[in-house]
Amino acid sequence: MVQWTSAVGAPQLARLLASQRAATAADAGHRVPAYRSLADGVRLLVLEGRIPVAARLPAERELAAALRVSRTTVAAAFEALRSDGFLASRRGSGSWTAVPAGKPLPTRGLEPLPPESAGSVIDLACATFLAPEPHLTDAFQGAVSDLAPYTDTHGNYPGGLPALREALAARYTARGVPTMPEQIMVTTGAMGAVAALARQLVPRSERVAVEHPSYANVLHLLRDAGARLVPVPMADGLTGWDLPAWRQAFRESAPRMAYVIADYHNPTGALAPDGQRREMVAAARAAGTVLVADESMTDLTLDEDVELPRPMAAFDPGGSCVITVGSVSKAVWAGLRIGWVRAAPEVIRSLVAARVYADLGSPVLEQLAVARLMTGDGWEAAVAARRAGARANRDALVSELHDRLPDWEFTVPSGGLTLWARTGGLSGSRIAEAGERIGVRVPAGTRFGVDGAFEGYVRLLFTVAGPVVGEAVARLAKAADLVRTGAVADGDVPRTYVA
Ligand SMILES: Cc1ncc(COP(=O)(O)O)c(C=O)c1O
Repeated sequence: MVQWTSAVGAPQLARLLASQRAATAADAGHRVPAYRSLADGVRLLVLEGRIPVAARLPAERELAAALRVSRTTVAAAFEALRSDGFLASRRGSGSWTAVPAGKPLPTRGLEPLPPESAGSVIDLACATFLAPEPHLTDAFQGAVSDLAPYTDTHGNYPGGLPALREALAARYTARGVPTMPEQIMVTTGAMGAVAALARQLVPRSERVAVEHPSYANVLHLLRDAGARLVPVPMADGLTGWDLPAWRQAFRESAPRMAYVIADYHNPTGALAPDGQRREMVAAARAAGTVLVADESMTDLTLDEDVELPRPMAAFDPGGSCVITVGSVSKAVWAGLRIGWVRAAPEVIRSLVAARVYADLGSPVLEQLAVARLMTGDGWEAAVAARRAGARANRDALVSELHDRLPDWEFTVPSGGLTLWARTGGLSGSRIAEAGERIGVRVPAGTRFGVDGAFEGYVRLLFTVAGPVVGEAVARLAKAADLVRTGAVADGDVPRTYVA
């Protein structure tokens, strides 16, 4: 009986393992037996979701040849993986990857921790904040009093409540991009917006160009939708996009869609300046590519002296090229699950028509609450508090990193929620794994890349505050030490912290 569902070739596995080694040249200070380091490498590839579970591995002889090691080394590594629960074998069917019972299935997205686990693990993986109070509760109380006219209807508004569409359109108009309510569809967060666009615009096997690195969950969503990703490198530092590389990608791959985060890019924090925006829109239009601009981070300017460039849509007055995605998750609260798409009216009409086959619309009360926030002064107050908090957290994180991990390199972004750190030659995947064992959850750089890129990075967040920042970085430093020395985490590291 065949137990595996896909196969990983020997050259592919050798390439993935080599990318880990390239990033971990600095771990070479300690000696680990060759079979152990091979087993660890495969285990990490499985845990990071870079090779699927139930994927058939190459035969020992083939893998030994591809890796230029002895067959005994591969046999010992397979044996170690089998005894750790990461490999299953059957005579005649070969060996396939597995995860030990009780361990969650790996995914390349960033799954939120269950809320009840807060307090034992410091979560530097999910870019979300607690709700801004009292503004959120005030908005919901107002929303309850606004509810009456809607209770006389069936309550399904696939395009969104008129009141919220109007409030969102007015916000764009105030930002210099004249917008009518018919150009807005309210969605279930920005993720719901990207999912709707992928369904509508990207038939299976079509190409989608993405910044490289890019937001992990959108990469995962696009892959799942059957898109072929065309990764385009970011420019060095936080200077935005490498436009010659984008023009080349448009020319050579003719992608159907490009997904970009111009405002405080996740994960690097880059902010694309006006000139680049203009050129990017022109290049996409010339290639016939729809440019999806994710503005989830737009409200999170942290440095006072930064003037936010014009929205991407401002460079596409005819509305034929740029589609904007937005959300209240970062500026206000992810628990609202309210996002939106801004596009030409005919695009919105077809998205709304297709919504009938998806989730039919977003909850009425949440939409009323967001409309209340946006039309009263709750929004400005909530966002100002959010910015002040994120700024203080960023500054504390940067200072702790300088103190405790001086060989980590990063550029401090002027906004957003993310810091993209090069981990001093250590493997980000190994740091993530060691961190998980000692109570700090941090995503490895590979989650933000295509095909295993960014092994030498992790992404950090400006979401933890006060003394927890010091504790988080202390645990990261400890995780880095464990990786550097090849030691296993001892059991006496505190698993709780005082917030
Ligand atoms: C760029 C970007 N887009 C979308 C999302 C998800 O947003 P939402 O919670 O609105 O679905 C995130 C969350 O981290 C993000 O950083």
